[in-house]
Amino acid sequence: MDFNSVTCITYSPTRTSYRIVSAVAAGLGAGATLDVDLTLRRVGVKVAVAAEDLAVFGVPVYAGRVAATAVERMRLVKGQDTPAVLVAIYGNRAYEDALAELADLVSASGFVPVAAAAFIGEHSFSTEAVPLAAGRPDAHDLELAVAFGRDVRAILGAAAGVADVAPLVVPGNRPYRKGVRETDSAPETLSDLCTLCGKCADACPVGAVTVLDSVETDGWACTLCCACTRACPTGARVLNDAGVLRTMQWLAREYSARKAPELFLP
Ligand SMILES: Cc1cc2nc3c(=O)[nH]c(=O)nc-3n(C[C@H](O)[C@H](O)[C@H](O)COP(=O)(O)O)c2cc1C
Repeated sequence: MDFNSVTCITYSPTRTSYRIVSAVAAGLGAGATLDVDLTLRRVGVKVAVAAEDLAVFGVPVYAGRVAATAVERMRLVKGQDTPAVLVAIYGNRAYEDALAELADLVSASGFVPVAAAAFIGEHSFSTEAVPLAAGRPDAHDLELAVAFGRDVRAILGAAAGVADVAPLVVPGNRPYRKGVRETDSAPETLSDLCTLCGKCADACPVGAVTVLDSVETDGWACTLCCACTRACPTGARVLNDAGVLRTMQWLAREYSARKAPELFLP
């Protein structure tokens, strides 16, 4: 079984998921690759992936689940018994039920999961002062992602059709664990460093930031994804929330030992 082209569907506020998915796609070696970046606020745009194509889904893990914004936006992506590769990216703590949730989600939308992987990305809350999985994915992770793509291509190449691929089993519990608890915590803006350039607002996947003659943040809309803190060119946008800082110190203490990517092939 061969595929015409690869469609990469990602939600990736701090771009680690995007980088892993791009490496997997490179390994798949398809002639044409289409990027559907759900991070951008294009809510309402429907995407259909043909049966002859291959989809690669890449999402960050939030509280052991697929990031809720990704779940919402992925519902608009439909397949037609289209084979799909699933990739969950987590910040070196755990991915828990995220792959199971992703498998269920895409299966309900007309995709057939044929392979999956959990990769590690720098934790969204990681800073120079309190780093966690800093610099990941690194060159070794990206090599593994390319090799994973190559392996998937070989497995699909040996199968007559998608029905010929052995059913994929991924770890995770059903019902899934409880996801992120809603709070009004959000990054803040240090006005003496802020130039009102608006890059934080442009980067926010959920439109929680407004820049007029000061920067306003809707804490209840904010998902703490940290796209804004990474996008700020002057270091004015910082996540100083006391609860998040406590969590980050705990994570750095308990989960700093390097974890390795896990691959699930039929
Ligand atoms: C709200 C929130 C919850 C998170 N929960 C987890 C988690 O449960 N386990 C984990 O290892 N990493 C967790 N992370 C870290 C992200 O999964 C990780 O940084 C990922 O690489 C981000 O992907 P992105 O760069 O594509 O945005 C969380 C991050 C955020 C913002």
